[in-house]
Amino acid sequence: MTPVPMLELRGVSKRFVKGLDLAQKMANLLGAGEREEVVHALDHVSLAVNEREVVGLVGESGCGKSTLGRIAAGIMEPSDGTRLWLGQEVSGLPAAAARRIELKIQMIFQDPFASLNPRMRVADIIGEAPLAHGIVTRGEASQYVADTMRRVGLDPEFARRYPHQFSGGQRQRIGIARALAVKPDFLICDESVAALDVSIQAQILNLFIRLREEFALTYLFISHDLGVVEHLSDRVVIMYLGRIVEIAATEELFAKPNHPYTQALLLGVPRLEARNQDFAPVAGEIPSPLDPPPGCHFHPRCPHAMPKCREIAPELVEIAPGRMSACHLNHAA
Ligand SMILES: Nc1ncnc2c1ncn2[C@@H]1O[C@H](COP(=O)(O)OP(=O)(O)OP(=O)(O)O)[C@@H](O)[C@H]1O
Ligand code: SF4
Ligand SMILES: [Mg+2]
Repeated sequence: MTPVPMLELRGVSKRFVKGLDLAQKMANLLGAGEREEVVHALDHVSLAVNEREVVGLVGESGCGKSTLGRIAAGIMEPSDGTRLWLGQEVSGLPAAAARRIELKIQMIFQDPFASLNPRMRVADIIGEAPLAHGIVTRGEASQYVADTMRRVGLDPEFARRYPHQFSGGQRQRIGIARALAVKPDFLICDESVAALDVSIQAQILNLFIRLREEFALTYLFISHDLGVVEHLSDRVVIMYLGRIVEIAATEELFAKPNHPYTQALLLGVPRLEARNQDFAPVAGEIPSPLDPPPGCHFHPRCPHAMPKCREIAPELVEIAPGRMSACHLNHAA
């Protein structure tokens, strides 16, 4: 029997509508025909993350990674589709139960400075949520903060300092401590090391790996850095313009990418020493999510495109056990 996934998205879509500004509305009165723009940030995305798994999420800028992360974290509502926690649809749960789940899923962002209140002391940044949610009492709080700081490699001596008194790497540790303090099961890391120097990146990645063991954590790890993803993930999910195009175990994906987009991404990426390595630039422009190409979104850049690729969107299907790909080549006669 396959286990119930910890977190699952089913058929999730997200559209952002950019309304008309005043000038456009005026122009329309004169018959200009300006229309609202709709960005299809996610288009029928389904993804399951199992308990204690690390899933890496990769794709070029604007393909919808952060949107998927935010919806998975419950901080953004999808336009369509459902989100399940341990097999239960979250939107159907009573408010208190839904809140408990939201606490179990914590998001760690790219820029710890922007997400840490500059006027709060570290002790309060880390201690605020556990106090508010009754995880600790006021009497236990300072000890709890000190323990949590130690767990992420921060000296509790500095608990009364403000975020600006720390380096970038230390600030990211504060962000991680704040997330850990509410005892989450699932961390969603959105480019969590992208803003850091390479040597600091390695330290923070090692911290993530250690915390995974220590707290039996599950991760969705969003990164444009293939080296980071390869190093950390059990499985990798590749996105292109709002759709998942391939899912595979990390080793299999890097050894034998199936989807032409994945192949193009991996082309020329030095293995393992790929730290801080952006994608190999895939030939051709990324089309706009405002007006994605019909059929397979990748067809204008795909060296294998066939006539039907321009008309029919290939479905994401299992092509081998545990391996999914969305490409018509897999079904060629
Ligand atoms: N709040 C929003 N309002 C309007 N459009 C948005 C909003 N958030 C994201 N988008 C659009 O949705 C698409 C997907 O954005 P998203 O931030 O999820 O991509 P991403 O893969 O995380 O990109 P990056 O690698 O640059 O972080 C983009 O076209 C983006 O401009
Ligand atoms: S479906 Fe067609 S265009 Fe899309 S990746 Fe496969 S071969 Fe290329
Ligand atoms: Mg993003």
